[in-house]
Amino acid sequence: MSPAGSGESASAEGRLWGGRFTQEPHQAAWALGRGVDVDRRLWREDLAGSRAHADELHRIGVLDAGDHAAIRQGLDAIEAEFTGGAFVFLPGDEDLHTAIERRLLEVCGEAGGRLRAGRSRNDQIASDLRRHVVAASRRLVAGVRAVQRALADQAESTLDWIAPGYTHLQRAQPVTLGHHLLAHAWALERDTGRLRDAAGRADAEPLGSGALAGLTLDVDPARYAVALGVSDVTPNSMDAVADRDFAVEFLSACALLGVHLSRLGEEIVLWSSTEFAWARVGEAYSTGSSIMPQKRNPDVAELVRGKTGRLIGDLVALLVTLKGLPLTYNRDLQEDKPPVFDAIDTLDLVLPAMAGTVASLRFDRERLQTAAAGGSSLATDVAEALVRRGVPFRQAHERVGALVRDCERRGADLEDLDHAAVVAALPELAGVAGDLLDPAAAVARRKAISGPAAHAVRRQLATLRRTADHASGGADAPPE
Ligand code: ARG
Repeated sequence: MSPAGSGESASAEGRLWGGRFTQEPHQAAWALGRGVDVDRRLWREDLAGSRAHADELHRIGVLDAGDHAAIRQGLDAIEAEFTGGAFVFLPGDEDLHTAIERRLLEVCGEAGGRLRAGRSRNDQIASDLRRHVVAASRRLVAGVRAVQRALADQAESTLDWIAPGYTHLQRAQPVTLGHHLLAHAWALERDTGRLRDAAGRADAEPLGSGALAGLTLDVDPARYAVALGVSDVTPNSMDAVADRDFAVEFLSACALLGVHLSRLGEEIVLWSSTEFAWARVGEAYSTGSSIMPQKRNPDVAELVRGKTGRLIGDLVALLVTLKGLPLTYNRDLQEDKPPVFDAIDTLDLVLPAMAGTVASLRFDRERLQTAAAGGSSLATDVAEALVRRGVPFRQAHERVGALVRDCERRGADLEDLDHAAVVAALPELAGVAGDLLDPAAAVARRKAISGPAAHAVRRQLATLRRTADHASGGADAPPE
């Protein structure tokens, strides 16, 4: 029997399901379904699962000692081929599972054909992908930690640098640079929590579910879990092969992490513009222009912002794939892996680049200080000083607003008024501290522990570092 159509196809012996067919698959159908270019990266998980499965089949008497030993040796040999980059995928390998079984038959003969008992590719792929997501989540947490550390280190050296704080991208009230930088670090802290949550939910073992309805063979899912270092077993075999919620949760955590990195990236782009000129990105994280010799562009920050579109797309792609799928396994689910792998690859690139970019930033203290001292951004402080003198806030707001308008008419800011002029306009403030319109003093007057004062930022920094250490418990895998 020859393949219909031309090009890559599968021989009946190569396929896992040739028995009931009399025709070869059409080349176009085969090309569409062949998933090996994507799922090959699960080879570690797949081989680990196969070892656990061989042991389980041996325990229940399906594999005798000789076949068990032959299979284990065969799997070791295949692992060595993968590790050494020598494993060869053939055109007839439909997916990773098929390729490994085909190779196992080549390496250890007929014994290799016994390993398929008690297992379906449906539970096998769910098992592989879950463990992959758990490992990736842990690695990404370590990558996020590196960005947080870069932010925290910058915050530590700038915790009392006065900077303008914004709402609506209009100067609002003075803060400290340390306060601002830590705001980003706290958002990332929530991301690490979400990645851990996603890993926690993925950490359940579906092997033993079979195609959907469990098995007549007496395999024990709990033993798979122990053998594979998985914390739990999936509670329902139909759910186990149909569920990709763990991947959605993972992608959702990645997308929101991307949004946070993108917002940070956007700020770095703003800060390094000539208009802001708050900071320069280190040369190693900047690029030039092919035509404009003077250019030094914050490309990494822009690329991080750009990559977030992909991360959001990955999440949406999987949600749309799942929507409307009847239980249980459907081949649509093969489309679960590209977005998951894409999100992992994207963040593996983005996180170290962002950590380095943040660490490379050199801020201009004077420029920040000057910007914070303008824009009448202490108007609220003046209104609150009136409130302390018994003026209702509504009136205080009105009167300080009128004073700002006066200043603006003369082309000045509120901060340009000397103390006497302020008291002349607002007599209730007679005797109030002379540094009312000094941004540094204004920031220092803020008592709240969540606020911008240096003592508060120091506390926030310590809390962040403690929280991160505690949450990690030394368990986050280092970035690869
Ligand atoms: N390669 C498939 C996937 O990635 C698993 C195979 C299940 N195929 C099947 N015909 N049941 O989801």
